[in-house]
Amino acid sequence: ISIALTAVALAVSASSVSANCDSGERVVKFSHVTGGTTHPKVVAANSLAERVNKEMDGKLCVEVFPNSTLFGDSKELEALLLGDVQLLAPSLSKFGSYTSKYGVFDLPFVFNDMDHAIRFTNSSDGKELLREMEDYAGFVGLGYWMSGMKYFSAKKPLTVPSDASGMKFRVQTSDVAKQMIRAMDASPQAMAFSEVYGALQTGVVDGQENTWSNIYTKKFYEVQDSVTETNHQLLAYLFMTSSDFLNSLSKADREQFVAIADEVTQKANQSVKAKEAANRANILKAGGKINVLTPEQRKEWVDTMKPVWKQFESDIGKDLIESANNA
Ligand code: LMR
Repeated sequence: ISIALTAVALAVSASSVSANCDSGERVVKFSHVTGGTTHPKVVAANSLAERVNKEMDGKLCVEVFPNSTLFGDSKELEALLLGDVQLLAPSLSKFGSYTSKYGVFDLPFVFNDMDHAIRFTNSSDGKELLREMEDYAGFVGLGYWMSGMKYFSAKKPLTVPSDASGMKFRVQTSDVAKQMIRAMDASPQAMAFSEVYGALQTGVVDGQENTWSNIYTKKFYEVQDSVTETNHQLLAYLFMTSSDFLNSLSKADREQFVAIADEVTQKANQSVKAKEAANRANILKAGGKINVLTPEQRKEWVDTMKPVWKQFESDIGKDLIESANNA
């Protein structure tokens, strides 16, 4: 019994005391799945922690757990509801079991670039979508964090979509992404981000689609022939918390925290293009190969994937799709 009690005491102290936080400070855990030092989400999460820990010293203490070390893709939303974590920034492609509206962010070629996506998130429809999760579960969207446009990598060079025929691609848990892969005559396999490198290495899947920052920091280029500059989809995050957490703060603390969160979001989005460009260069420097498409080749990708929009028109809403595309 005494061994069991000691184990319980250790478990309790491990979860409630932290090396970096002073006693009396409220520990705020931020869990995410990305890694490295140059990734936009890593930089934004660390900058939030730095600012809160300095400006709200003695009150809040943010601890960041990157690389799926606290919770991975499949558990983090549930953990937020249970109060085991207070801050997350999952990809908008991972909310399919709560809402189909975020599918608009996944539509292939709906945004030309990140500036286009930022214009949409600043529009009235974009702002309304930020609150979408409140209706479902008491999640609170604090802001959109852009990550980058996405590119396909595979075990052999992909120049036109028919090169992907018969291959298996890892996707996030997004129905739009699955249909997009099927439109290429390939098969999608939904998988947690932490498992992608191993799955590419062992041949469980043949390819994947991601940003320069994820391909570089997770070293996917090491276990793929090359990356093709398809620029076909956006990757963006919902920087979020729970209403339980926000409501547990005093009004003054809540306002200060939300103001810092807003400023960190603005700053992160201003520097994301430069981070993506730097990680593209990092891939080349590390020996990775990038295939650049001619306008004709790119048109083949657009023609193959864009018909997917029609399949999701009733789930997402025609008006919302137009609003995103025209932003
Ligand atoms: C993925 O699962 O590929 C990405 O959403 C990971 C991330 O958070 O950037």
